Amino acid sequence: MTLQIKDLAEYEKVYAESIKDPEAFWAAQADTFTWRKKWDKIKECNFDDVNINWFVGGKLNITENCLDRHIPSRANKTALLWEPNNPDDEVISYTYQELLNAVCKAANMLKANGITKGDRIILYMPMVPELAIMVLACARIGAIHSVVFAGFSAQALADRTQDAQAKMIVCSDINRRGTKIIPVKAIVDEAVAIGCPSVETVLVHQIGQEDIAWNHTIDKWIHHEVKDMSEVCEAEEMDAEDMLFILYTSGSTGKPKGVVHTCGGYMVYTCFSFKNVFQYKEEDVYWCTADIGWITGHSYIIYGPLLAGATTVMFEGVPTYPDAGRFWNICAKHKITQFYTAPTAIRALMACGDHWPEEYDLSSIKVLGTVGEPINEEAWHWYNEKIGKKKAPIVDTWWQTETGGILITPLPGITDTKPCYASYPLPGIEPVLVDSEGELVEGNNVEGLLCINQAWPSMIRTTYGDHERCKNVYFKMFKGRYFTGDGARRDEDGRIRVIGRVDDVINVSGHRMGTAEVENAINEHPNVIESAVVGFPHEIKGQGIYAYIITDQKEAVFADFFNEIKQTVAKEIGPIAKPDDIMVVSGLPKTRSGKIMRSILRKIAANDASNLGDISTLLNPEIVTEIKKTKGIN
Ligand code: WT7
Repeated sequence: MTLQIKDLAEYEKVYAESIKDPEAFWAAQADTFTWRKKWDKIKECNFDDVNINWFVGGKLNITENCLDRHIPSRANKTALLWEPNNPDDEVISYTYQELLNAVCKAANMLKANGITKGDRIILYMPMVPELAIMVLACARIGAIHSVVFAGFSAQALADRTQDAQAKMIVCSDINRRGTKIIPVKAIVDEAVAIGCPSVETVLVHQIGQEDIAWNHTIDKWIHHEVKDMSEVCEAEEMDAEDMLFILYTSGSTGKPKGVVHTCGGYMVYTCFSFKNVFQYKEEDVYWCTADIGWITGHSYIIYGPLLAGATTVMFEGVPTYPDAGRFWNICAKHKITQFYTAPTAIRALMACGDHWPEEYDLSSIKVLGTVGEPINEEAWHWYNEKIGKKKAPIVDTWWQTETGGILITPLPGITDTKPCYASYPLPGIEPVLVDSEGELVEGNNVEGLLCINQAWPSMIRTTYGDHERCKNVYFKMFKGRYFTGDGARRDEDGRIRVIGRVDDVINVSGHRMGTAEVENAINEHPNVIESAVVGFPHEIKGQGIYAYIITDQKEAVFADFFNEIKQTVAKEIGPIAKPDDIMVVSGLPKTRSGKIMRSILRKIAANDASNLGDISTLLNPEIVTEIKKTKGIN
């Protein structure tokens, strides 16, 4: 069984050993899984040309480890428990045996539709069990899944489909979110019309009752296709370094990057981190509220929990439907033992009032988790007092799409917790702070750029179709280290507090947004000449999006124009990227070489006019005065 650390002394011992001899440590962890063939070598990792290989020569299938491996002892244990959008609809649960059967049927359906090992499949689906089943069905036959969050627009879906050269899109007819119905299949049709030439088949899972537009040459209903499929499907033998999935995420350029994870290392790390960070015990019922469209859903709704033989809960709906007590209602209804959510959700629910959690029995909760962005002190205390009743330690887990799993976090009941601090590294993880020259920032009570020194099993392998980009973004800046893009501080006891991005990435409600991506979308509006986007402090979302715009539109009132801009962004990316605030300006502050000074714009958006730096060297210093005036600050 995968190691589960029990106390502080064991953590300290295991951590020290894991850094001294990572190969021995990871070999012991990997040994607890089912391998078709054991590895020849634990790792071969080179950060210079980004050649990362774990469990070299090993052969496995991750779904054998998620499912088949548990059948002897957990066939009738609930693997997946699904709570519907509408609380009066039926809860659906799958035992390990039922989930294995469903995954095999779906895998056989993919094969019958011409999918073979190495093909890319886009999964564009709401939070229904069929999404988890399709993820695992792909992994079963060695097809590479790329889940695209169902809130993304047709354009964003088409871009990702093309980049991945996907042969198939799997979607649903609709998506139910609170009282809203989103026409998912119609968005797929639009993406196909924009141009997804590689797509041969669109498989559609039926949720609604209404007729939908149908393209007879490529569209197929899943319930027709799966009907006669066998419940047995031999798992494809995969190399430890074969691709498991691609997940697109934003960077500082306009083009989303396809983060690539592989089979062996991802398996070992997600299981190990899940068991330890959540201290999962056999009878526990674990719930992560993330969407499977993000890495959190991949690693800690599907793979980590299933690898550990856990009961994992999946929720279709939204935190405020039918009312702001929904999360707490679900916790009480299913006696949730570990609850993992995002600071933005905590802040939003905190604003709805204490009476919501007070209405429900939350005594089953043993561990609380947060992820995605720094959690502010006020929200941390509310979570601790109102939800955990000061009895459930909060694990503030820091990680990224690129890291595959949680790297820095308290261990509940084992290491201490401190508001705003992700705290301590997991075994095998060696975080360091460096300055902009790459010099190590040592000692405590210091700040720096957060890097990770040694390779770990679930780290990014490449950015799909563009290995140079992967090298440049993460490994070139500081030789021999992985650069996270985050700034961090280390306190007097060595705990790490992650402050936020130091690059042109905004974190909106825990969702990563590239400023260039949003600017490109805004610039699609015919009356926008140029734009600059920055993040600004937002009470609920953590960061909001502030857009400065140069336009040829001559109006005294811009309300309609601003709405059009927001609609343009929703169409190009999705509603989550809509700017919260827009200001029309006559120019943007630029350096003499023409670079937009976002640092100045960021301060002004935050109503902070102090320390704007030496603006006299700008190409157009007068514009700073104009923008400050429009914003009403001096
Ligand atoms: C970025 C990664 C990891 C899943 C969700 C987001 C920020 C993440 C924390 C935390 C402070 C955090 C970082 C990171 N972030 N967790 N506990 N405290 N910041 O994944 O979209 O890949 O974004 O989210 O800035 O770099 P992602």
